[in-house]
Amino acid sequence: MKFVSSNQDWVAEPCDALVVALDDNWARTAEYQAIDRATSGWFQRVMQSTEVPTKPNKVTMLIAPPGIPAGILAIVGTGSAQATACNTFFRAAGSAMRALASKQRSVIRFVGFGNSPLETRAAIAGAMVGAQGQDLYKSEKTTFAPGTVEWLGAKEAQIRAGEIIGESVNLARHMINQPPNKLYPETFTQRANEVANDAGFSIEVWGKERLEQERCGALLAVAAGSVREPRLLILRYRGSTPDSEPLALVGKGVTFDSGGYSLKPTDGMLTMKCDMAGAATVLAIFNAIAKLKVRRNVIGVVGLVENLVSGDAFKLGDVLTARSGKTIEIHNTDAEGRLVLADCLNVALQENPSHIIDFATLTGACVVALGNDVAGLMSNQTQLQVDVQSFTEKCGEYTWPLPMHSFYSEQITGKVADIKNVGEGRWGGAITAAKFLEEFVQARPWVHLDIAGPAFLDSPKPWCDAGGTGFLVRSFAEWLLA
Ligand code: BES
Ligand code: MN
Ligand code: ZN
Repeated sequence: MKFVSSNQDWVAEPCDALVVALDDNWARTAEYQAIDRATSGWFQRVMQSTEVPTKPNKVTMLIAPPGIPAGILAIVGTGSAQATACNTFFRAAGSAMRALASKQRSVIRFVGFGNSPLETRAAIAGAMVGAQGQDLYKSEKTTFAPGTVEWLGAKEAQIRAGEIIGESVNLARHMINQPPNKLYPETFTQRANEVANDAGFSIEVWGKERLEQERCGALLAVAAGSVREPRLLILRYRGSTPDSEPLALVGKGVTFDSGGYSLKPTDGMLTMKCDMAGAATVLAIFNAIAKLKVRRNVIGVVGLVENLVSGDAFKLGDVLTARSGKTIEIHNTDAEGRLVLADCLNVALQENPSHIIDFATLTGACVVALGNDVAGLMSNQTQLQVDVQSFTEKCGEYTWPLPMHSFYSEQITGKVADIKNVGEGRWGGAITAAKFLEEFVQARPWVHLDIAGPAFLDSPKPWCDAGGTGFLVRSFAEWLLA
């Protein structure tokens, strides 16, 4: 699939499908007027007769429209256009593309998507998301990306940037959708090396021995139950002078979370291949920023492990020593993400970052609190928290703060060791998990994003197949580009 800029003669040029975005105020738009003129008033009759064609993400396919050389004229609604524009265009473009991707097509032309470069890039990324499904191992594919996508109203540079961001979102989605027998610490690392070579950033790989030398006792304990050896990756992108402090991105990469001895029931375990979404998010953001050549130094740390049960697995009551030297009492082996992140955050600190942002499918409690469309946002610094919340909102990916009062920390005080890996009971579980992480950031400005809800869809949306979503890749690529 290749994106090119559409020429001004877009109504008169042939294509397989012409996709037009129209809001409730459609009659005033240049796109509507051009199509109505070319079809000699037919389009107006359609718009007035078809049942609310401008409802958000509704796709109306009109076969063989008269007077224009398009096989299909597809209308996609953007509603009142009052929601965040980036979100509106991302979803509308995704919905139209997903509907058209049911068959192989060669040229699809998009008109009327986005009024600013930020919106245009969101819409292009949306179209790319719509063209990629989770049918990775189906003998007969169900999703077909078109050969060429022509885009009206964007310069080549914007199109290229949108394509890089869309490719990065799809990279994260693809990795999350890989089954856990195919994607595990070693194969994640192979993929990361390919991405690094292609995009232009470096990766340092720590295997089991190095992790032992580095005393990453928390991460290693989680990994102990699996025959698949763990990895810790340090990603480095240099876009600024060596003296400029890097931003650190940290990701939870549990390639499968069975819960360990605190075993999950089947229903909860079924989708736990998604538990490496944080790590995939970090890798995908690196792909984007290296290809976009952003002018920042960024480092990434991802911890890759499988949380399984065996004679070597860690147990309830075990006491671990994290890389920082803190001792941790294990009260639940299913609270493993925070253990992996404890050591990753400590490695990130060593790179002297200006601030740290971590991405993790950390708690079911966060999904209970905020649902599936909003990530939990927890921080030790108000300004950074406000900046992240407002920027993600502007990009159309929603994050929402949860409180971080110091008294929550009382819940994770240990009896035998410094801290324990769960709070007292289930209440406030997303926050006690964040408080645990805070123990490992040494008061460095830090934001924790709990993406357990939005990282993975159990059932499809009109704009995105079920499975991994690549949530927050777009916002952070844009944040570093801005
Ligand atoms: N990976 C899970 C969290 C999760 C749940 C991600 C649902 C995606 C969807 C995490 O490791 C976990 O199991 N957390 C426990 C913590 C508890 C034992 C304190 C949870 O949320 O139940
Ligand atoms: Mn778990
Ligand atoms: Zn987990």
